[in-house]
Amino acid sequence: MRVVETCAEMMALCREVPRPLGLVPTMGALHEGHLSLTRQARLDNATMAASIFVNPTQFGPNEDFTTYPRSMERDLELLEAQGTDLVFAPLPPEVYPDGFDTYIEPGAVAEGMEGASRPGHFRGVATVVAKLFTITRPDRAYFGQKDGQQVAVIRKMNADLNLGVDVVTMPTIREPDGLAMSSRNAYLTEEERAAAPVVHRALCAAESLWNAGERDAGRLRTAALALLRQEPLVSGVDYVSVVDAETMAPVGFAPAGRRVMIAAAARLGSVRLIDNVVVG
Ligand code: PAF
Repeated sequence: MRVVETCAEMMALCREVPRPLGLVPTMGALHEGHLSLTRQARLDNATMAASIFVNPTQFGPNEDFTTYPRSMERDLELLEAQGTDLVFAPLPPEVYPDGFDTYIEPGAVAEGMEGASRPGHFRGVATVVAKLFTITRPDRAYFGQKDGQQVAVIRKMNADLNLGVDVVTMPTIREPDGLAMSSRNAYLTEEERAAAPVVHRALCAAESLWNAGERDAGRLRTAALALLRQEPLVSGVDYVSVVDAETMAPVGFAPAGRRVMIAAAARLGSVRLIDNVVVG
């Protein structure tokens, strides 16, 4: 496994490795969710590359960029055990040198939910993913459905800008009690961790209604919100949204045959958790 810190070296190596090349972009602090991506990428491709980069441009000024969990040594061990060929692990000035001033601005797909709660977040995600795609020129890139809106933003950018990458979405990996795996789960206190599966339970309540034939987004939202509000450790609900699974446009009453994502963001103490289920 080669660990590369500069864009120039990564670009050169990616031009000469056997194809197809699969890329797994990450911000490190790897968990089973990431490993499900690397496992699939290893199976699908002759060369498997991963990136570890805590991307400053996708964090708001009051967010957790400086405290975001970092565990480079352990991450590299895990990636090596997964059979990774190349790891791109640059420092911020390598990706954003002095004078960097060009960003990708996603459109309507990025407006609601995470886009509304975290202004500028998807501009940072789209910009860094576009850079990673340009540096590595992957045939395939792998992302987790847990960040459902992020996947939609990346798919739209990839299509609109003809980046030509096969964007592969892998299912959300959950703890046995249903909590979606996330690097930020490490911030939860013991009590918050015990309460955290309520986010998934709330989405499951909406999903059950859907499965029973309910198509009114208002009723689906109410069912999920009721559960979240019952949990005393939930300190705030940023949103429960029912959206078209591809465009992220809000759905009022879901027409037949439409794939719909029911997504939620809730706070337990200072920790913000997001999750979603896709129905239809
Ligand atoms: O999902 C993540 O870890 C990040 O948003 C990504 C896609 C690696 C871009 O920084």
